[in-house]
Amino acid sequence: MGGDHSDFSGVVRPTTPADAAAVSRILRASYEKLYRGWYRDDALEKALPAMTRANPVLLSSGRYFVVEMDRAVVACGGWSADCPAGGAMDRRAHLRHFATDPAYLNRGCAGAIVQRCFSAARAAGYVEFEVISSLTAEAFYARRGFMQIAHVRQPMGGVDFACVLMRKKLEAAE
Ligand SMILES: CC(C)(COP(=O)(O)OP(=O)(O)OC[C@H]1O[C@@H](n2cnc3c(N)ncnc32)[C@H](O)[C@@H]1OP(=O)(O)O)[C@@H](O)C(=O)NCCC(=O)NCCS
Repeated sequence: MGGDHSDFSGVVRPTTPADAAAVSRILRASYEKLYRGWYRDDALEKALPAMTRANPVLLSSGRYFVVEMDRAVVACGGWSADCPAGGAMDRRAHLRHFATDPAYLNRGCAGAIVQRCFSAARAAGYVEFEVISSLTAEAFYARRGFMQIAHVRQPMGGVDFACVLMRKKLEAAE
């Protein structure tokens, strides 16, 4: 399965509120470049300022992480018990706000954070993960065992974006 590279050279650490600017910068750099072609330019123009603002609740939750490489924050992502679309289901966790600096793609950064989320959630008694994936990231999550459940529309920054609801059972070893 994707992400099982042994030569990952970054450090994964939990965020604090002091990471807000670095996380917002990664979200902006990633979404601005990598969502092009998947979503309309006018929708991105309108929504990017709000959707690239670091979420203070996630930042201080102990469940949100950054990857540092070359002494810089280059990727972010995490998990929560709350579903971003509202509500929470017993023992189902949700991946949240993943992004990698486009200059650091394909080096295992997001994959390393996903693995950290799986092990932390499993240790906390969660048995299943859900993600409301961008169209851009659907293949990334599929290669990590997530199955498509439904096409959904997710409001972000005042615009409804086409997304894919995906789900995966946690394996004993994850
Ligand atoms: C989705 C996203 C976060 C992935 O980031 P990433 O850091 O490049 O992800 P990884 O490097 O862990 O994995 C990407 C590929 O690199 C490969 N890779 C992983 N580690 C590697 C390494 N050490 N050396 C070479 N290649 C490696 C993996 O095989 C993986 O391919 P796969 O997905 O086919 O398995 C990034 O593309 C992104 O920011 N997308 C836009 C924002 C977005 O859609 N976010 C999700 C919102 S729901």
